[in-house]
Amino acid sequence: MKIKTSEFVMSNSDVTKCPNTQLPEYAFIGRSNVGKSSLINMLTGRKALAKVSGKPGKTRLINHFLINENWHLVDLPGYGYAKVSKQEKKTFQKYITAYFEKRQQLVNTFILIDSRHVPQPIDLEFLEWMGMNTIPFSIVFTKADKLKPNVLEKNIEDYKSKLLETWEELPPYFVTSSANQTGRDEILNYIQSINETLV
Ligand code: GTP
Ligand code: MG
Repeated sequence: MKIKTSEFVMSNSDVTKCPNTQLPEYAFIGRSNVGKSSLINMLTGRKALAKVSGKPGKTRLINHFLINENWHLVDLPGYGYAKVSKQEKKTFQKYITAYFEKRQQLVNTFILIDSRHVPQPIDLEFLEWMGMNTIPFSIVFTKADKLKPNVLEKNIEDYKSKLLETWEELPPYFVTSSANQTGRDEILNYIQSINETLV
């Protein structure tokens, strides 16, 4: 898929106020600092469509972007950011949960996992929650450029083995680097192939 246009639509914390259209929607979520906003910029070919930060916790709202005037891309806040207050965490959790439970237009969620780390409980719990709620998702391993190819391959194999301890089947997964565009075509073509089944 070629990205011809991408524009910011709105930010909010209330699922009932998200864009009131029937356009298919693809969400991106993962731990804070995993590289969600960078991936969105890489996919859309825009330097600063989504705000990138060295400090975790930059994205705090549900951010809608309109792509090619026919689908929405959604940048969600990171989970597991330690430096926000308990109250703030609860508020986040509430509106993100509401988003996943209520957003009918949501077609697929890309769950981002930092390829440098061993499986983290918070990510595994989130995958579990998505599974229990039968919300379709794929996995995106990020920051692949930060590892030597053999280490990257080993980490991904280890992750898959860990998932197969609890899952019967592996979800689709992608290996990406926002620094050098790895995985861009694969993700965009995947989105396009789903969009084509919807028309
Ligand atoms: P929050 O919105 O704070 O939850 O973070 P986020 O998940 O949107 O992460 P963001 O895209 O802001 O990136 C966090 C940091 O990781 C930034 O310093 C990025 O430059 C860096 N980063 C993101 N993706 C990559 C990548 O593929 N390769 C490298 N080398 N660095 C990356
Ligand atoms: Mg962000």
